[in-house]
Amino acid sequence: MGKQKVTLTINGDQHQGEVEPRMLLVDFLREVAGLKGTHVGCDTSNCGACTVLMGGRSIKSCTYLAVSADSKEIVTIEGLSRNGELHPIQEAFWENHGLQCGYCTPGMILSAAHLLAKNPNPTDAQIRIGIAGNVCRCTGYQNIVNSIQKAAETQ
Ligand code: FES
Ligand code: FES
Repeated sequence: MGKQKVTLTINGDQHQGEVEPRMLLVDFLREVAGLKGTHVGCDTSNCGACTVLMGGRSIKSCTYLAVSADSKEIVTIEGLSRNGELHPIQEAFWENHGLQCGYCTPGMILSAAHLLAKNPNPTDAQIRIGIAGNVCRCTGYQNIVNSIQKAAETQ
């Protein structure tokens, strides 16, 4: 099958590309749109490093075809800060040591953004369920949970 034209709104800007039908959304974000903040950890929908928001819901962009995302609205980690100011969730991760190597962090923060949009005052248990699809091999999760709890208090 030939290439297909895809137009996505990413962080408020339109991005177009002629892509193979098999191209993954994460590859469109990184290679076509040049937004390298969305990471690939496993490519098999296990780690959550590739998490982005589509229409406000968190999705794993390694499990989504770019052509299926045509005309959708996507938010990546690059779209969270405003006028050079960190988003409150980013600020909370920074202040509460919610990251070490940072590889999982963009996906973790977008999962947190989805969680807090649905539930502005989550319990620790609800936070752990909300980030259950995101693997972190560094932090032991407690500082991530603390960060999301602080973000909920300050948002
Ligand atoms: Fe998508 Fe791991 S790269 S879930
Ligand atoms: Fe290293 Fe989460 S901070 S994987």
